Amino acid sequence: MNAAHTEPIPNALRPQSGFAMPSALEAEVDELITHYPVKRAASLMVLHAIQEHFGWISQEAVEWTAKKLEVPPINIYELLTFYPMLRLQPMGKHQIKVCRTLSCALGGAYELHKHFCERLGLDAHKHGPQTTKDGKFTVEFVECLASCGAAPVMMCNDAFYEGVSRQKADEILGGC
Ligand code: FES
Repeated sequence: MNAAHTEPIPNALRPQSGFAMPSALEAEVDELITHYPVKRAASLMVLHAIQEHFGWISQEAVEWTAKKLEVPPINIYELLTFYPMLRLQPMGKHQIKVCRTLSCALGGAYELHKHFCERLGLDAHKHGPQTTKDGKFTVEFVECLASCGAAPVMMCNDAFYEGVSRQKADEILGGC
């Protein structure tokens, strides 16, 4: 047999020790499901509710969701790997998202991202979200934030910032 066929399938899910679904969240999920003709159709809304509570979605949360919606876990996992807003790892308290689509890339997004990484001791060349060791900040690139004329554009949690200079970036960090 080919050795490649015996290797485990890469799985980006992380375990969450002590995972327990709070009864209030389960009640919220049950209510969400009533809005859809079939349970599976509620998948994204259920995942958003779980992420809102825990901050990310673990292997246990995927298994719980699959059981609740009566689908195989792969049907939940495929959503997690498709939608970048669904988090497969714990995020920092302050989530810095720098737009890197064309206008922002030309307007200094890569320099801005590098500046944040240098200030926070992160590797500007690493792919995907990076979180500081103290769990305070996560820095990542995102795609167009729909304000292309005001590049470079970024968000810190729900706050939106346009035309962000390094000085402005430092002020944003200071405000956290
Ligand atoms: S390209 Fe950055 S907001 Fe559109």
